[in-house]
Amino acid sequence: MKIRWLGHSAFMLEGRKKILIDPFISGNPLSPVKVEELNPDLIIVTHGHGDHIGDSIEIAKRTGCKVLSILEVSKFLLAKGANAVEMNIGGTATVDGISVTMTPAMHSSSIYDNGVSVPGGCPVGVVVELDGIRVYHTGDTGLFSDMELLGELYKPQVMLVPIGSWYTMGITEAVKALEFVRPKMAIPMHYNTFPVIRQDPEEFKTLAGQKLPEVEVVIPEIGESMEYLEK
Ligand code: NI
Ligand code: MN
Repeated sequence: MKIRWLGHSAFMLEGRKKILIDPFISGNPLSPVKVEELNPDLIIVTHGHGDHIGDSIEIAKRTGCKVLSILEVSKFLLAKGANAVEMNIGGTATVDGISVTMTPAMHSSSIYDNGVSVPGGCPVGVVVELDGIRVYHTGDTGLFSDMELLGELYKPQVMLVPIGSWYTMGITEAVKALEFVRPKMAIPMHYNTFPVIRQDPEEFKTLAGQKLPEVEVVIPEIGESMEYLEK
């Protein structure tokens, strides 16, 4: 599986299918791609905040691909003309042959629609299984000990984990999250996009390396792809 970081919490997972998570592209001055260049088979949105819903409506309308999210976000996307598929926390949905398990996240969720804030249900994370590889995108979240349970149940090989602090976990909490989940590979996200979430990913890599030498921490450049091969 190829994992391409598109900046912030946006990732494209590419295998048999292309899955785009949290496509915050046009609003991100650091984005390495243009919205028109993205042609996913499925979009997943973890919560209603603008830096996660991002350009999902536009991409979904242009490509006709489905957008998977929690019920409340899904109703909003549907009303905006996207081919929205709803699910909820704790369940696994199979959409066009892609299996997605929705997990809790400790955060908030609301949607800003033309200056008005509408409820966005609960924020979530997802475990996506593609070509036998499971990727846990935590969404925006603080640390919670049930991550240990998620690790035990779903055994994700790859974990995409926020380190920016301020709105989400910071480096200390993210290292603890790796300890709970025990993935084989971890990629930091949700940092350095804005001044308040400035962090040094090398510090995360060093601390994780001291505590959990068995976890490979990979720090991609924005726009860079990495290949995850099952060992
Ligand atoms: Ni958020
Ligand atoms: Mn965010």
